[in-house]
Order: sequence, then C-alpha cells, then structure tokens
Amino acid sequence: MSDRWYQKAVVYCLDIDTFADSDGDGVGDIRGLIGRLDYLARLGVTCLWLNPIHPSPDRDDGYDVLDFYNVDPRFGSLGDFAELLHQAGNRGIKVIIDLVVNHTSDQHPWFQSARSSPDSPYRDWYVWADSAPPDRHQGMVFPGEQGETWSFDRTAKAWYYHRFYKFQPDLNIKNPEVREEIKKICAFWLQLGVAGFRMDAVPFIIEETEPGNPDSPKDLDYLTELRQHVQWRKGDAVLLAEANVEPDQLVKFFGDAGGSGNRIHMLFDFMLNTKLMLALARQNPEPVIEALRETPKLPAGGQWATFLRNHDEVDLSRLTADQRDQVFTEFGPEEDMQLYGRGIRRRLAPMLGGDRRRLELAYALQFSLRGTPVLRYGEEIGMGDDLTLKGRDAIRTPMQWSRLPNGGFTTGTPVRPVVSGGEFGYQKVNATTQRHDPASLLSWFERMIRTLREAPEVGAGTCTHVDVPVPPGVLVHRADDTTGTMLFIHNLGPDDGEVDLSSVYPEAESPNDVLADQEYPELGKCDAVSIAGHGYRWIRLRRHP
Ligand code: NOJ
Repeated sequence: MSDRWYQKAVVYCLDIDTFADSDGDGVGDIRGLIGRLDYLARLGVTCLWLNPIHPSPDRDDGYDVLDFYNVDPRFGSLGDFAELLHQAGNRGIKVIIDLVVNHTSDQHPWFQSARSSPDSPYRDWYVWADSAPPDRHQGMVFPGEQGETWSFDRTAKAWYYHRFYKFQPDLNIKNPEVREEIKKICAFWLQLGVAGFRMDAVPFIIEETEPGNPDSPKDLDYLTELRQHVQWRKGDAVLLAEANVEPDQLVKFFGDAGGSGNRIHMLFDFMLNTKLMLALARQNPEPVIEALRETPKLPAGGQWATFLRNHDEVDLSRLTADQRDQVFTEFGPEEDMQLYGRGIRRRLAPMLGGDRRRLELAYALQFSLRGTPVLRYGEEIGMGDDLTLKGRDAIRTPMQWSRLPNGGFTTGTPVRPVVSGGEFGYQKVNATTQRHDPASLLSWFERMIRTLREAPEVGAGTCTHVDVPVPPGVLVHRADDTTGTMLFIHNLGPDDGEVDLSSVYPEAESPNDVLADQEYPELGKCDAVSIAGHGYRWIRLRRHP
C-alpha cells in the first residue's frame, strides 16, 4: 500500500482573489480563505493548490510575478499566510502553491535591472538576442493574443525571449545563478510550511533557448537537481508539474523510466483530460479506454493528477481536427465559447447544459480513474461562467457562497462580476443553499469524496479497463491495491442497459454498491447487473483489512 500522501489526496484548486473577501475591498484574501477552511474540510479535500499568491501587476492573473518572496498585499501579509498554513494543517489539509519560474513580470526588479545595461548583474538572468531571431513568430502559447515569442526592448537595445505574453520575459535556465535562485524560492516557501509546488510551464522552464532554433534543447537534469534540493529540505514535499507535451515525452519528466522516479512526482494528465472530454461529447467511453491502454508505466512514486476543468481553457489541441470539431459542437458551439482556436472557455456545468445526471457521471468518472483527483473551486456546486468577460476570465468569476448580494463573496465591489441571474446565477447556485439540501450537488460531492477516501486503491492503486460484454456507452474499469478492489460501471450514453459481470464475480467477496446514481437491486449472485442511462455504480468487490 502506498504511504505517499499525494497518492491519496483530493486536491482543490482556488485563486485567493476570487474565493472569499473578508474586508470588503472586493478582492478575496487569505483571511477570507481561512474562514472557509471548515467548508473545505467538510467537503473532504486534503490539499489546496493556490493559484499564484505573489505580488503581481496581474496582467496574467498573477502568473506574472513581481516578488517571489512575498504574498500579494491585496491578499494579506506573510503572517496571514503562515496562519493559513497552520489553520489548514489543524484540519489535515496541506497547501501547495503555484511556482511560476519560467518567467517573471517585466516589472520585476531583476528584469528592470537587466534591461537597463549590458553590465547589469541580472542581464544574463534573461534570454537575449542582438538581432531579430528568425523564429520569433513561432511557438506562441496564446495565438490571437500574442504575436511573437521575441520582442525588441528599446532600453536594452536587444531582443528578449518570452514564451508567453510580451510582459513575461523568460528566465535563463542556463545561468547557474537562476538555477540557484529557483531552489532558494522553493526552500523559502517550504520553510514556511507549504507541502509542495504546482510547477507552471515545466517544459519551458528547462528550455535552453537558442535564438533561431525553435527546437532548443531541454535540460531535464535540472528537474533532478531541483527534486533533490526540495526533498532534502522537506522529505515529503511534492512537485506537481504542468507539462502538456507529447505522450512519449511525459515519462522523462518523472525520471528514469522503469527506475525510481527522481524528477517530478506528479504530472497533470492532459491526455486523459482531452480524451475524457471527447468521450463525454460522444457519449462513448472508447477514448478513455484508449487512454487507459496507452498509459506509460510510471516509476515508483510517480502519479498522475486528473482533472476535468482548471483555470485555463479546455485544451483540445491534441485531438484530430474532426475530434476537436465534435467536442466544439457539443460543448462550445459558439465562437465566443472558444479560445486560441484550440479550447473552450467554459465551466463543466454549462458545457453539460446543467444536466445534473451527466455532471455526476463526469465527476464520478474522473474521481474513479487512475491518479489524484484535482477539483477546481465552484465545480462542486455546479457554477457557470461569464462569457462577457475577456478570455479565460470567463471561468474565473468569484465563488458563489450564498444568496446575499454578490453571492456572499464580498460586501464591496467584486474584483470580477459574480455570475448573477439565470440558471447559474448565485441566487440559484450557491454553497449555503446546497449545504442544507442532502440532494444537492455539493452533498453528492461530499458523499463521493468520503467514499473515495474509504477505498485507497482508487487513485493510488492500478487502474485498468475491464473487458466484459457491455452495451454501447458503458465503461467498466477497476482499481486494485493491497487494500482491496473497486469495480466501476459508468454509462456515458443515454440508454439503460445491462452489464455481464460473470467473469469478474468469482473474485468478489461481498460485493456492494458504495456509490451509485440511484438505488439498484441488490447485487447478490446475478451475472448481469443493470445500469441506467448516464448512471454509474461503484462496487467494492473486495476489501482487505
Ligand atoms: C500556465 C498557466 O496555467 C496559465 O494560466 C498561465 O497563463 C501560463 N502558464 C503562463 O504562466
């Protein structure tokens, strides 16, 4: 049985500025978050992932950092942050923070110094070219919003590299001082008590950029170096990487394949995310089965982090054009629902037309698959989006706590409008109303997460497709570990059906439904079990003490 905490965690991702405002200035803050820890504990989350907490001009929602050694004064002080870590710890909740070190804000004192003179001690902390690099119109991450990856700086009289927006100059990983500084930043926050980091843009951090070479080499060994440092400072600290790369490249980020992982502990499973979206759109599990079949073997301790929605657009770039069109047609047919030509800027509830059965099905499926589940704030109550806001802001509206003005998020003017009125407005969709209703989506999430935590083989164990006769639309898979076996039936399609479990039953000790979309007849010894359209059954086959 795994004894690594992150393999059994339920991660909840939130942005402090849109979560809860304690002082009425319209911006969410740390004290507001502390006030909601009991809510999170009751939901059953065991780890918070905080989107960037540092001072920032906020031109990319905090992913443009001004000072790595502080918290944004709008959120509170470092003292408040230490208090948050303590209060969360009291409730058994760990905290990881976004580590955004591929780039800084162009306002960061390092960049200001670097551009001011070729003799600046920080000049070589960034990536420069004397003449216009021929590949400067390649490799943009935000097509439509970003025109190039190299820009000319008049003060520096040189071109600087920026993989993301122009105001986010890339740090130079070839520079040993930069490498040391990143370690120092990690050490600082570990010392304060964070449990690890969600590392932003990892494939780009380790890119040894060469002007004119769009395929610059990557120094994966830096990840080994960083892991060693982090682990030395805090033995059970975790690195969770954002690395949306080709599947055959993924394993390298974990460490030597087949050996003991010595780089990143956890990677977001972008491939599974895309295939889940395709499967939900088609109402057919084939893409998920494919993902399960093609999963590369991870080194010991390596773990996937699964998700349906995060703070960015749903990225469909790894699908074929036909597949992408299918998902667009189902989930983002209007042009203003789409972004960068590859994604959808919507939350899941509106994507599924507010259909409660399909929402439960989608989340039951995500949480039952391999890896550690990550849940974005507000998804547990089925929040909607605001397409009148620019770009990804559509899915970054404030948390809807109650029917009070501004959804109880703030007594002031909210940093972003709260979704109001209509099917997803705070008047209808909010945590307080759902908390009092045992049939609400929130109550369902609480039950589902509790069930999951009683069966540690889910997430930490091995997850495989079970090839038994099923009607179209139905997926059967299982999770096995020394703690027991859980069998899952999920019907992505609309029609009721029956699943033949005769080949599985000989292993069953005392099978029982531990979570299901509705009451089903007792399992007994029958070979065929029924499953409703868009239904699901989690069956504990065996439990080992
Ligand atoms: C990935 C983050 O998820 C995204 O929100 C951000 O804009 C880029 N990295 C740049 O930091």
